[in-house]
Amino acid sequence: MVLTGAGISAESGLRTFRAVEGLWEDHRIEDVATPEGYQRDRQLVHDFYNQRRAAAAAAKPNAAHLALAEFEAAFAGEFLLVTQNVDDLHARAGSKRVLAMHGQLNRMHCDNCGQVTDAPPVCRPDMRCQHCQAGLLRPHVVWFGEMPLFMEEISAALADCNLFIAIGTSGQVYPAAGFVRIAAAAGAHCIEANLEASAVAAGFDEQRLGLATEIVPQILAEIA
Ligand code: OAD
Repeated sequence: MVLTGAGISAESGLRTFRAVEGLWEDHRIEDVATPEGYQRDRQLVHDFYNQRRAAAAAAKPNAAHLALAEFEAAFAGEFLLVTQNVDDLHARAGSKRVLAMHGQLNRMHCDNCGQVTDAPPVCRPDMRCQHCQAGLLRPHVVWFGEMPLFMEEISAALADCNLFIAIGTSGQVYPAAGFVRIAAAAGAHCIEANLEASAVAAGFDEQRLGLATEIVPQILAEIA
């Protein structure tokens, strides 16, 4: 089982959240990543995700995304990739079994009935749901204070996995930051692959520090 965060897409040119010059330096989380921020200023929230959608569309999968897809295609056992990223670089690299627990930039959902649809490149705050005709379409992105997606499948996979690798994630946002503890308690060998030790580094059996494009292909070659 693999968990990825913003660090795996950094070398594709997408900004991470908590770095110097990270996204949370220019934007207040309360404004652009909470239901309350969306209630206050829907245009501002759409502008933020429209920019990020454009950046993701212009980016290309890197060697780390590609190595994960190749590993999955060749692996005889069960494999699950859980990503906190809202870009679609894993899918575009060819990964098949991917759960995007924080949602997807290229989707929207209705704030009334929950129906999920494809997002156009530029979304506007007055876009109505064609399904229920009553609600407005909002970014299909999980905000702070909301429940991440696919938690049942993820919990089942964590309880059952024997190898857990976290790649490019700072370990600051739960529940994802807690996955290593659950996997370790289930008996999994846990590897952290990151530029620096994360906030939950102590929970891992092994630490591999470096650029994702270098260390991810190496790790996967060792376990293939
Ligand atoms: P962060 O920005 O918090 O952390 C990115 C991690 O990647 C850091 O620990 C970096 O050291 C590491 N990193 C940066 N470049 C790297 C590289 N080239 N190779 C390897 N590692 C690298 O991003 P996340 O942990 O993904 O949630 O953040 C988790 C969640 O917080 C996001 O999904 C988002 C955010 O708020 C929501 O918006 C709900």
